[in-house]
Amino acid sequence: MDKLVIDGGVPLKGTVPVSGAKNAALPLLMATIVAPGEHRIANLPELADVESMLSLLGRIGCPSLMGPIVRIDTSRVAWCEAPYDLVRKMRASVLALGPLLARCGEAHVSLPGGCAIGVRPIDQHLRGLEALGCEFQMDNGYVHGKVKALKGAHMRLDMPTVTGTENILMAAVLAHGDTTIENAAAEPEVEELGAFLNSLGAKVEGAGTATIHVQGVTSLVPATRPWHILPDRIEAGTYLVAAAITGGDIRCENARADHLAPVLDVLRAAGCGVETGDDFVRVWRNGPVTPVDITTAPHPGFPTDMQAQLMALLSLANGSSQIRETIFENRFMHVAELLRLGARIDINGNLATVHGVPELSGATVMATDLRASASLVLAGLAARGRTEILRIYHLDRGYEHLAEKLRGVGANVQRGQEGRPVTHIVSA
Ligand code: EPZ
Repeated sequence: MDKLVIDGGVPLKGTVPVSGAKNAALPLLMATIVAPGEHRIANLPELADVESMLSLLGRIGCPSLMGPIVRIDTSRVAWCEAPYDLVRKMRASVLALGPLLARCGEAHVSLPGGCAIGVRPIDQHLRGLEALGCEFQMDNGYVHGKVKALKGAHMRLDMPTVTGTENILMAAVLAHGDTTIENAAAEPEVEELGAFLNSLGAKVEGAGTATIHVQGVTSLVPATRPWHILPDRIEAGTYLVAAAITGGDIRCENARADHLAPVLDVLRAAGCGVETGDDFVRVWRNGPVTPVDITTAPHPGFPTDMQAQLMALLSLANGSSQIRETIFENRFMHVAELLRLGARIDINGNLATVHGVPELSGATVMATDLRASASLVLAGLAARGRTEILRIYHLDRGYEHLAEKLRGVGANVQRGQEGRPVTHIVSA
């Protein structure tokens, strides 16, 4: 397995190009199923999760052709199954449920199971799809769904689940009649999915707000022009924290400041400078890191996907910060590893109290999940000496060309093989 080796302590300065958003790319790829034909998508990020989603499309009979513009042909759907070997690698495969039911009237999707950060149930996905007329049975770890005719419905979700909202939306667009989804997830990636579906001929209003209205249509067609995926706000936020934690100055190109508002508020409160424009966000830090209290929340609140990264930054604050994780029940996996780098953090249930320390020192640490891994990279970039991060396949799921982008702003970072020493780190 690969590892990442970082010689820390360098203030990172320069420009980082932000890739297409992973959490928009994944539902968009599944949405191609509801519109038979050839779809073209630009700036699809080169990520392990995207590869998994493309192989899932291939498995059901929808081949893709890679290139600057990725072409996906969903003219035929031969299988209506998302098998365990794919779903266990990437739980977002559950997003096949809604589109397969809408396209084929049936779907057989492996139950995703839990993951490092929580149980991750899909009860809301199923309830919403049942409201549209679907019936489900569980058997051998699979959810088997069928529907004779999707019919519009008025529903209210128990909680604003992102992929739950997306699954329901991708079925509702082909239902007979109108659908209203209340307490829907309002993340920018949901808004992007609604816009993409409308480019295929759907009639979606309010995607990106808490109430979505859909007027069902009888058929959809592939988008004629290549779809350009919105920038990844979590990737951008991660690099902005890299500037903050190393006392550097980074400008993220192709970034949406409006999608990062709660993160930028925290960075300002932590003592950073922030400059924004139409398509860039810049963050720098000259003075001390000051403590900030954070509570994660559904969008437009502070994103849970940035909690681990800000914890790394606040571990160097000149005081104590309280971080409350309200979305997932086990999203502090990075704490034990941050402690190995010299951080001082107390956990009490879903509350982490981060007592700032003057500096972190490099060590060998273990990645456990995608954003926890990002937190360890950030801490390693600031730590004195060398940090080795093992099992970085977690990072490859969500950060395109991470080492190259970090070297581009001056980091001393190198991929290597676990168990084999990295003697020479390519300096920037
Ligand atoms: C999406 O996951 C993202 N993944 C996650 O990003 C993100 O952390 C999460 O939304 C919250 O913003 C993708 O978009 C592919 P949820 P999702 O359903 O949809 C509970 C990353 O790092 N819930 O909004 O799975 C659930 O247990 C990943 O990029 C139910 O109880 O998250 C959780 O506590 C990690 N029943 C809460 O809702 C359901 O049916 C929010 O989960 C569904 C969810």
